[in-house]
Parts: sequence; structure tokens; C-alpha cells
Amino acid sequence: MAPLDITTESNQRTLGVRIDGMDLTGPLGDDVVAEIRNLWMRHAVIVFSDQDITPDQHLAFARRFGALQSHTVTDILHPDYPELLVLSNRGRGGAKPINNGGAYWHSDITYEVEPPMGSILHGFIVPPADGDTLYVDMTAAYEFLDEDLKVKLDGVQAVHTYRHRYELMVEAGVRPPQPDEKMAEWGDVLHPVVRTHPETGQKALFVNEGFTARIDGWSDDESRRLLSRLYQHCMEDRFIYRHQWRSNDLVMWDNRCTMHCATPYDLSHERSMHRATIRGNLPV
Ligand code: SIN
Repeated sequence: MAPLDITTESNQRTLGVRIDGMDLTGPLGDDVVAEIRNLWMRHAVIVFSDQDITPDQHLAFARRFGALQSHTVTDILHPDYPELLVLSNRGRGGAKPINNGGAYWHSDITYEVEPPMGSILHGFIVPPADGDTLYVDMTAAYEFLDEDLKVKLDGVQAVHTYRHRYELMVEAGVRPPQPDEKMAEWGDVLHPVVRTHPETGQKALFVNEGFTARIDGWSDDESRRLLSRLYQHCMEDRFIYRHQWRSNDLVMWDNRCTMHCATPYDLSHERSMHRATIRGNLPV
């Protein structure tokens, strides 16, 4: 196979490379998938340009990297393709419209015991300006922590939950209310604050403003102080890749070592995306 055509858009060591000239609409050979996986592990966020793909093709591509998982909130799933989450301010395809749905810092679904390996987001209609997605390289963020803090974080766990975030999103009008039984399903789970990537062996910070409620066993005050110190550090420009969407970009991120946040845009424009999410394993 010819080498992939890679244009680096990032000023950052690992994060965010654009790959032009690939056609992901049809079946891919194992060698191509292995090469993509390699790039993905190296750069954590990769972008394929000009992918005019159907939901079936999107899902077939995503399945090459692992089994898929549907989001727990069923109103925002594609009615015909429940493994696709619809992030659309126009409610494309009959899903509930979402304005600024992912506009808070998070890694996907860390409130589950086995959070996803990664997600693949297809931006098929994007606004003419803004509505970017920011990604943080949590491996680099960990690497550049003070050594004494790294020692302090060793073995520390954090509590993750969806309930609180969901209540805030309902209040803000960006998610539909859920019945009490559904809210009760979203209990607390514990994850290490620093996880070791199961494929690269690198350590990464694994907390996020969206779903990390507190540090397990610490006082509220200490917990708040630690988390805000970590978030402040992660959000330094040197760890961030800003993805400015072009129509039919397909962005694939490694959820085990990145955190992301959508940025606001003029809601009179349409922003419609489909997200497929690949299952992961227990963070250690
Ligand atoms: C997401 O959080 O998965 C979506 C991000 C975006 O809408 O840019």
C-alpha cells in the first residue's frame, strides 16, 4: 500500500494529524487498518478529510477497531442506527436536536466501568465558522506534571458519575429530561486518576470536568483543589489541538488519553455530526 498522505496541523508532539486522499467508504485491507491503528496510537487524534460516508459505511469503518457501544441516552441515538449518536442542532434523521451538546471538557462515558477506547465523529454539516472541537493530550499533560505531584497521584482514584452532568445539561436545555429510573442507573464508578494505556504503555491523566465528581477518600476541599490544579495544567495551550471542522471530516480520537470540548457557534447555522463509539476496557 502507498504510504498515507499525512499533513500535520498540530504544533503539538503527538496530537492531531490530517490524512488526505483516503477512501473509507469501502472495505479496507488488514494492512491499511493496521497502519491507521498505528497512526492513531501515535497521534491520539487523527482526521480523515473528505469522507462522504453513509451511516453504514461509518459503522463498518468503526467496527474495524473494535465492538461498538450505543449511548445510554436513547433519545439522541439515530433511529435507524442505534450505534450512532446524533449531535445535530437540527435533530437530523429524527433524533432529538442538541445545541452545543459536547461543550464541556470530558472524555467520553468515563462514568461507566469500562469507558470507551475511542470515538469516530463524522461532521457532515458544519457551520461556516466556530463550533471547533478542542482536544487535550492527557499523556503529555501527565508527562509534564511536577514530579512530586506524580508521586502524590500514584494509586489515587476518582469518582465518576453522569447524573450531576446530566442534570446541568437538562437545566441548560441541551438534553431532554429523563425518568427517575434512568437517572438512578447512573451510579458512581471509580477510576485511577492516572491510567496506563493498554496499547502504548504510556501513562495519562484520566480525570475530566464533565464526569469526575471528586477524588475518592479526600475531603471536598482537597479534592476540589487537586482537580482544579490538574484541569488548569491540562488546559495549557501546549497540550491542546484545536480541530476546525471542514465538511465531511471524520475525526477519530483515543478516549483513553485525550479529553475534548466542543466550542460555541452561531446556532442559526446547522452543525450535524454522527458519532460511533468503540468499546474499551477497565482503566488500570
Ligand atoms: C463529543 O463530545 O463527542 C462531540 C464533540 C463535538 O460536538 O465537537
